[in-house]
Amino acid sequence: MARKGKAGPKDQSISAKLRSGKLKIAVYGLGNVGSPIASVWLRAGAHVIAVDKSPEVRDYARKGKTLLLEPGVAEAFSRGLKEKRFQVYDDPVQTSSDSDIKMVCVPVLLSGSPQSADLGALVQVASSIAKGLKPGDVVVINPSVPPGTTEDVIIPVLEKSSLKAESDFFVVYNPERIYEGRAIQDVEQSYPAIVAGAGPKSTVIGSSLLSIIYKKGVIATDNIRTAETEKLLEGVYRDVNIALANEMAKLCEKIGVDFWQAREVANSQPFCHIHRAGAGVGGACIPVYPQFIIQAAEAAKADCNITRLGRNTNDSMPSYCVEQALKLAGGIIPAELSVTLLGLAFRGGVSDTRLSPTYRIIEELKRIGVGRITVHDPLVKADPTLDVKLTSDLAEALAGADLAILVTDHKQYSSLSGADLGNVPVYDGRGILDPRKFARLGGIGNRK
Ligand SMILES: NC(=O)c1ccc[n+]([C@@H]2O[C@H](COP(=O)([O-])OP(=O)(O)OC[C@H]3O[C@@H](n4cnc5c(N)ncnc54)[C@H](O)[C@@H]3O)[C@@H](O)[C@H]2O)c1
Repeated sequence: MARKGKAGPKDQSISAKLRSGKLKIAVYGLGNVGSPIASVWLRAGAHVIAVDKSPEVRDYARKGKTLLLEPGVAEAFSRGLKEKRFQVYDDPVQTSSDSDIKMVCVPVLLSGSPQSADLGALVQVASSIAKGLKPGDVVVINPSVPPGTTEDVIIPVLEKSSLKAESDFFVVYNPERIYEGRAIQDVEQSYPAIVAGAGPKSTVIGSSLLSIIYKKGVIATDNIRTAETEKLLEGVYRDVNIALANEMAKLCEKIGVDFWQAREVANSQPFCHIHRAGAGVGGACIPVYPQFIIQAAEAAKADCNITRLGRNTNDSMPSYCVEQALKLAGGIIPAELSVTLLGLAFRGGVSDTRLSPTYRIIEELKRIGVGRITVHDPLVKADPTLDVKLTSDLAEALAGADLAILVTDHKQYSSLSGADLGNVPVYDGRGILDPRKFARLGGIGNRK
């Protein structure tokens, strides 16, 4: 049974040791998760050593800067540097030798065909930690992983140190649940931490440790597999519900109903939570976790039909939106068509482009033979993987355009009018534009 815990007396001693520097925290991976985690520990007064495989990320951190748009991170790094409590190492083994608590925040994405979890970075970090591991150390694993990964893959790598988990050192699984753009607030104020240990001692230590930074306390699960699974359930729930919204939005278009109005009214019923429909699901989390569940179901020979269907539905949305949008182009042949895509970030308010549906839309437009494709994003300034023009200047992006497709729900876009977009026909792939401000607007869910 899951147990709720609050900060107890033990926290005081850990907390004091962290503040005095007697205990040091290492953060492996200074990305969207690791940077706010390092920041939260710095804000709690702890001594933090960070390591990242990217020299650029390390250089930024050493100057008290970050490549991310995450509020509070640069300030926390700068203060930590000024107070000599923040160090950035190049060597992951030295990082392990010089720290007592190791928080692992590297990504686990998908690779291969059929796609499965790519544990390369996680195993690499675990192996570096093992080389510097000392009795009494605590290893906290943050990334979302297929159930069983920590016990079957990571602990054996850590035990190559010849120390035993739960008797010599402690292993905690703590799935990160933050929302990019308000990550520090999520950890410090909004969510309880989910904690599971390799055994009872690890669970107690993990709960004491994490309740220092999670003001909402901790929820401990009986074992690591349950905590690994709960995180995937959060993602699958959202993916499947987005797929349901997408399916209903497409139906509404066919039967001449405004999906957005129907949705708003339906959601006034307390048990109904219809999600938003949209041009596709991107990011490092929601499109990825259902694949981990599918991978686990295949290994266990269990059914996974709804998860699979949801994934397929959401995956089909970029090409569906292109098909619908091209109907607004007034018969211009593809080779002569100039299309502007609004948004490269995978969702509004972030500069993270991982698995953004915009890439799939570009692919689809190219497949059809569209002559010119331009991408606008107010927050993404560069993308070396992109072979079409990217600009943050809206007028430049729209110059000569025959059609615009809104892909990302950036706040900056929601107040735009037809005139702001050069009066080109617009396909609203997120349902955020006001139809009264446009002469030629189409969009997902038939907004009226
Ligand atoms: N981004 C989110 O909002 C979010 C939310 C909840 C959970 N998660 C989980 O957290 C994991 C990490 O996500 P993220 O968004 O921080 O990824 P990210 O790509 O933003 O950051 C990962 C960082 O790790 C570094 N790195 C990669 N391999 C490394 C290695 N071998 N050694 C040292 N550093 C290495 C990268 O250079 C990068 O800076 C995800 O896989 C996901 O499971 C992410």
